[in-house]
Amino acid sequence: MNLILLGAPGAGKGTLAAILIEKMGVPSVSTGNILREAIKNGTALGKQAKAFMDEGKLVPDQLVIDLLADRIAQPDCAKGYILDGFPRTIPQAKALDKIASIDCALSLEVPDDVITQRMSGRRVCLKCGATYHTEYFPPKTEGVCDACGDPLVVRADDKPEVVQARLNTYHETTEPLIGYYGKQGKLKPIDGTKGIDSTVKFAAEALGIEV
Ligand code: AP5
Repeated sequence: MNLILLGAPGAGKGTLAAILIEKMGVPSVSTGNILREAIKNGTALGKQAKAFMDEGKLVPDQLVIDLLADRIAQPDCAKGYILDGFPRTIPQAKALDKIASIDCALSLEVPDDVITQRMSGRRVCLKCGATYHTEYFPPKTEGVCDACGDPLVVRADDKPEVVQARLNTYHETTEPLIGYYGKQGKLKPIDGTKGIDSTVKFAAEALGIEV
C-alpha cells in the first residue's frame, strides 16, 4: 500500500508512521527527516533548505519533488511506503500523481491549540530521528533516547514563533490537499486529538489492518 499521512505540523504524523511501519511492513519516507539529515551533514541540499525551515516556510517544490522521487525509487519502497510530510502543496501532489499510485490519504485532524501544546513538549533524537513528548510519550530516562542513547533536544523549528509560522503555512498551502484527495476518493479523516494508542486504533480501522 502507498499511503500518505496528511496533517498539520505536530499532528502526530511521524509518531503514527513509526508505529505503522511495523504493522504494514513498509518504510516511512519523511521529507522533513531527509532535509534535517542533509542540514546536519552540510550537503548542498541542506544548505538550500535550512533558511526556509528555520523560518517555518516550505522548501521549494522542485527540491522536495526530486528528493522524494529518488527516495521512493529505492528497492525498499518497491512493496509500498508511508509518506510523512509529502505532498505539502498542490504542485507536489500533481507531481506525485505522475510517478506513483496512491491508495489512501489518511488525514490526522487536530486543532491548532492542541498542536501548539504538543510542539512545546516535543523532544527529538537527532541521531536516529525518534520523537518523544515530555508528558504524552516520555522516554524511559529523561532527556535520553530509548532507541540509541543519544541526548534529546528541542527541534530548531519548535520555537513558539516558528510554530505559528508553520501553522499559517499549513492552513494556506497544505490544507487544500484535503479537498484534492477527497475529490479522488482517497481521503480518510481520523480524529488525532486522542492519545497515541487511540490514534493508532483509528488509523488501523480506516486502513483495514490489524493492530
Ligand atoms: P516535517 O519534519 O515534515 O514537520 P511537520 O510536518 O511540520 O511535522 P512535524 O514533524 O513537526 O510533526 P508530526 O505531525 O510528525 O508530529 P509528531 O509525530 O512529531 O517538516 C519540517 C520542515 O521541513 C517544514 O516546515 C518544511 O520547511 C520542510 N519540509 C518538509 N517536507 C516538505 C515538503 N514536502 N515540501 C516543502 N518543505 C518541506 O508529534 C508531535 C508531538 O506530539 C510529539 O512530541 C509526539 O510525541 C506527540 N504526539 C503525537 N501524537 C500524539 C497523540 N495522539 N497524543 C498526544 N501526543 C502526541
